[in-house]
Amino acid sequence: MPTLTVNGKSYSVDVPEQMPLLWVLRDVIGLTGTKYGCGVEICGACTVWIDGSAEKSCHLEVKEVVGKQITTIEGLSPNRSHAVQLAWIAEQVPQCGYCQSGMLMQAAKLLRESPKPTDAQIDSAMENICACGTYPRIKAAIKRAAGIV
Ligand code: FES
Ligand code: FES
Repeated sequence: MPTLTVNGKSYSVDVPEQMPLLWVLRDVIGLTGTKYGCGVEICGACTVWIDGSAEKSCHLEVKEVVGKQITTIEGLSPNRSHAVQLAWIAEQVPQCGYCQSGMLMQAAKLLRESPKPTDAQIDSAMENICACGTYPRIKAAIKRAAGIV
């Protein structure tokens, strides 16, 4: 039975080792913050961190993430106080909200690597798709979180 480390906790999951991580996170472990959007590695709704790298969990098989540190939106901060979470609220970014956990994971990773990102760095890092078109507010929130507005 594979054992996964998610948000610092250990989970032994009785699933086929080819099962996509997204299914395990949502349906087996019950962490439903990570969303299913396209299922084909395009939209980014399923973005989580694997050993600190932002990855699309709809294409990762369980066997690929055994022994790695998996971080979901639920583990981004203990009390929703991460800079991007506060900035998202301040800028009132979400509309339907469906894409937003993936956006937050992607944005938090960008700011970890580039604490004061340029517009070009933001555009290049934020490839996730938002059907509601919240892109201008996402950009404003990233700048707010970076303290450059
Ligand atoms: S659901 Fe994984 S990239 Fe769209
Ligand atoms: S807020 Fe609705 S898809 Fe992005």
